[in-house]
Amino acid sequence: MLAAESAVDAVAAPPPLVSVTNVQKTYFTRQAPVHAVASASVNVARGEFVSLLGPSGCGKSTLLMMIAGLERPTGGSILLGGSEVKQPRRDIGVIFQDATLLPWKSALENVLFPIRILKLPIEAYRQRAGELLNMVGLSGFEHKKPSQLSGGMRQRVAICRALIHDPDILLMDEPFSALDAITRDQMNVALSEILETYKKTVIFVTHSIREAAFLSDRVVVMGGRPSTIMLDMQMPFRRPRRFEIEETPEFAAVCRKLRLTIEQAHGSPQPAQSPAVETRTLTFE
Ligand SMILES: Nc1ncnc2c1ncn2[C@@H]1O[C@H](COP(=O)(O)OP(=O)(O)OP(=O)(O)O)[C@@H](O)[C@H]1O
Ligand SMILES: [Mg+2]
Repeated sequence: MLAAESAVDAVAAPPPLVSVTNVQKTYFTRQAPVHAVASASVNVARGEFVSLLGPSGCGKSTLLMMIAGLERPTGGSILLGGSEVKQPRRDIGVIFQDATLLPWKSALENVLFPIRILKLPIEAYRQRAGELLNMVGLSGFEHKKPSQLSGGMRQRVAICRALIHDPDILLMDEPFSALDAITRDQMNVALSEILETYKKTVIFVTHSIREAAFLSDRVVVMGGRPSTIMLDMQMPFRRPRRFEIEETPEFAAVCRKLRLTIEQAHGSPQPAQSPAVETRTLTFE
């Protein structure tokens, strides 16, 4: 039986590593200003995997880039471990939708690229780069150029590149959206395994309800124009997760709830004020 509770267990909540409070973003363009994010508040605890889900153009990438320090908010605050994010930081690794590898460098050299940028000793990181590539199933491909790799392989190189300097936080913007369904499923499993080994805090943008439900501890739905946070929902599935959970009625119920909220986000008129965020935990008995 499905029971829904609207309460969050505030007592058990650990202090947030990432704290986004009433963040707003307006892009000032030559034409009219673009109100990309009206108000977003979300906390992410250390080790948590939180997905941002929502219709195209609702400000998911904008929010992620602000957390990365690549865009400045026009209002509100973003704190990482208590200090304000003002610029890109070493403790954050970013993975973009497109793998954005340097085409003239090998897979190994691409993974090591942040080490060169950060002026850290390359030799000390060469072994780690090899281990990471091995972990994502790319041993033997270290010296291949991106053009000799498939899309999924390139994205795996990009994941290794984001992990090479051991950041606490991974920000991932639709990293698997260009992949076919089977490769995407494989990448989801690979990512779960990587995170079981290298404990990271992850904020993950996706359009895929299934992907968000499978990977996340919490799913945050953004929507409205300009956007706000419409739902912040705990995923009630134990870890480690295997694909079988996707066959369960519980998984279907969670996906249905997320889909209905996104549909509402698509259709909803611009809110006069920030609507109250619905915080929800589904429990199954
Ligand atoms: N640099 C920019 N200058 C002006 N407007 C921008 C800029 N970047 C994004 N926008 C606008 O801000 C809004 C939010 O864009 P954003 O890319 O964050 O959406 P998104 O939710 O990531 O969409 P998608 O799912 O399609 O990637 C959109 O209306 C977009 O046109
Ligand atoms: Mg985007």
